[in-house]
Amino acid sequence: MRDRRIQAAHALLPNAWQQAPKEARAFAPVNIALAKYWGKRDEALHLPVTDSFSVSLALGTTTTIAKGEAHDDFWLNGGKIDPATPFYKRMQEFLDLVRPHHSFTFSVHTENNVPTEAGLASSASGFAALTLALNSFFGWNLSSKNLSLLSRLGSGSACRSIAPGFMLWHKGEKEDGSDSYAEPFPEKWEELTCGIFYVSTKKKEIDSRTAMKRSQETSPYYPLWPDVVAKDLFDITEGIKTKNFSQFGQAIEQNALAMHALMHTAAPPFSYYTSDTISTMKHIWQARNEGVEIYFTMDAGPNIKAFFLKKDICDIISIFKSISLVELTF
Ligand code: PMV
Repeated sequence: MRDRRIQAAHALLPNAWQQAPKEARAFAPVNIALAKYWGKRDEALHLPVTDSFSVSLALGTTTTIAKGEAHDDFWLNGGKIDPATPFYKRMQEFLDLVRPHHSFTFSVHTENNVPTEAGLASSASGFAALTLALNSFFGWNLSSKNLSLLSRLGSGSACRSIAPGFMLWHKGEKEDGSDSYAEPFPEKWEELTCGIFYVSTKKKEIDSRTAMKRSQETSPYYPLWPDVVAKDLFDITEGIKTKNFSQFGQAIEQNALAMHALMHTAAPPFSYYTSDTISTMKHIWQARNEGVEIYFTMDAGPNIKAFFLKKDICDIISIFKSISLVELTF
């Protein structure tokens, strides 16, 4: 498993490289999945069962890399990370893929301006920022396709966080994953607006990897998922191209609810919903019944990300007191 990952990483890097600057820094945005990645065809290489689609926020992760001392040292928002934590292990495993020699160590400072591990995809922006910082630290000069391919080895959804705007991740067909990367979807939508309901920023009880695997392996409805995504992806991209907000909104919300239904029907079943998640969902449905167009999506966490059009901002903020507006990047 480790060898296949190392092979996949090395296939992307130049033959010879050396550390260029003393330190390097990069920013990568959080991406919000609109047609979700939920299920893998290859666990080691993070190859998905379906295509997926996202939009990047202005929020995200800034990562600074320098050469380390005796061993790898990682900081998150100013606090040093304990080597016994899963966070440390995942970072270290990713850095193992690109270490120039086994005794080369890194010092990595990660700053998130979104709550970490609260289903706001900070691992996606984290691995994308780390990949972009490594690219300038070692002067690899990788293409955006290769940056996406490399960051995918850190966290699947990271491959969609290497650029702003709408991103389409092609699931690819190849066994080595060399055709499974994300690229910008060439449409903008300046009117589109996003707001987050921070239902809970507590660390989640079940991580997305475990949740995804259990849904895929045990939900009797998982076999329907690829067709669900294909249809939703079509409606999302058509909605964007024709600026048909109802078509876009219905598809993103249906896709998120279908993904959560897979978790609710897994064995054993589980849910990221809290009672506040459910009351927020109902509030959104009620507003819609009363003529205010707002739709939501959710990832592996209880927080709700809502989408609406700029023209409705005043209505939205008077109806939803707890919504935090966030900037999209087009
Ligand atoms: O990349 P991972 O392993 O954190 O999985 C991400 C899964 C979702 O955020 C729920 C969906 C997605 O497409 O990002």
